[in-house]
Amino acid sequence: MREFIEKMLESIRKSDSEIYEIMMSEVLRQEKSINLIASENFVLDDILACNGSILTNKYSEGYPMRRYYGGCENIDKLEQLAIERLKRLFGAESANVQPHSGTQANMAVYFAFLSPGDTVLGMELNSGGHLTHGSKVNISGKYFNFVPYGVDKKTGFIDYDNVRKLAHEHHPKMIVCGASSYPRIIDFHEFKKIADEVNAYLMADISHIAGMIIAGLHPNPVEFADFVTSTTHKTLRGPRGGVIMCKKEYENKINRAVFPGTQGGPHQHTIASKAMCFRNAFSKEFKEYIHDVVKNCSSMANEFISLGMNLVSGGTDNHLLVLDLSNMRITGRELQERLDSANITTNKETIPDDKLGPQITSGLRIGTSAITSRGMNENDCKTIANLIYLSCTDFDSKKSYIVDIVEGLTSKYPIYL
Ligand SMILES: Cc1ncc(COP(=O)(O)O)c(C=O)c1O
Repeated sequence: MREFIEKMLESIRKSDSEIYEIMMSEVLRQEKSINLIASENFVLDDILACNGSILTNKYSEGYPMRRYYGGCENIDKLEQLAIERLKRLFGAESANVQPHSGTQANMAVYFAFLSPGDTVLGMELNSGGHLTHGSKVNISGKYFNFVPYGVDKKTGFIDYDNVRKLAHEHHPKMIVCGASSYPRIIDFHEFKKIADEVNAYLMADISHIAGMIIAGLHPNPVEFADFVTSTTHKTLRGPRGGVIMCKKEYENKINRAVFPGTQGGPHQHTIASKAMCFRNAFSKEFKEYIHDVVKNCSSMANEFISLGMNLVSGGTDNHLLVLDLSNMRITGRELQERLDSANITTNKETIPDDKLGPQITSGLRIGTSAITSRGMNENDCKTIANLIYLSCTDFDSKKSYIVDIVEGLTSKYPIYL
């Protein structure tokens, strides 16, 4: 086992055998399975080290040089460093690195610039939007009047004419763009034009595509959007957390909305690992990694198509693809369960106009960030696509074959062992 991981586990084993058992099982699960969850990744040891560091001991409510606690002189430097790196990475005027998660980042923007009942345009869940973009089961959909827009049902691409029509009809105070499960480039410039036509704020949630933006494989919304939110744990390959970037004129309102508006003390151990993650993201290696993620996804997509499977929007421009299973005589849930039992981890996903609910679904979302982090390449991606195809068509007789191939691939590309 990698020395760093081994030391960490040994220390846990000595103090708490129950946690150790669970942790060890999870190490093996991650090691032995092919992780195709588009929102997950494997962080580098420097990120793990910061996240598990003594910085967790420090309370630091407030912002650099304006804290409510003493003893923040080192923390101030740390948080300022994270802010400066993030601003430089995306070319942003202002940044807040305190949100505990992507959800917290989005809530803070809403809290800063919306009042309960305000109208907002957000992408519907079935088209790939996120819960925090106005779902009825989320506080965003309960407190604000979200009007959903979606993709063109035939093409699977965002229907910008419809977004424009809805904007002129409903006069939203804010338009939210960005998605959890949209495989295509998002035209932030077009969203900005629409927002300007109706005098709405524009918020871009780049949680999934942040890595592609840094690598130059996706347009950067920072010049167009009033607010840009992101998670740091998906394609950015950093710690679990969120960030907000905005124009300088909004900085004070955003900062107040994060603290004291919606959060308490910042997690400085996570802010240290965010700063590390931003530093890593400047590197040539990170950009090469993201190019490989996209190449891998595109090669998997092409293989699915050659096997006769349908993809929402017919393909992918980024790190994820969505299988439309409606012609495969299997639901998203069934396929996810079959794959789970063969150590391939995925998630069921609704597709545009899905007749089945979110618990069953007609789709499956697949991402290549995590497998690329462990070194898998385009040929491996073709192999994996074939395993998924066999899991749809001939699972009972092919299961042991699939399990063997998975075992071979995960042994060839170790993470911890
Ligand atoms: C587009 C988008 N926004 C926000 C979030 C929420 O992030 P978190 O799970 O960190 O709250 C996600 C997570 O999947 C997401 O995909």
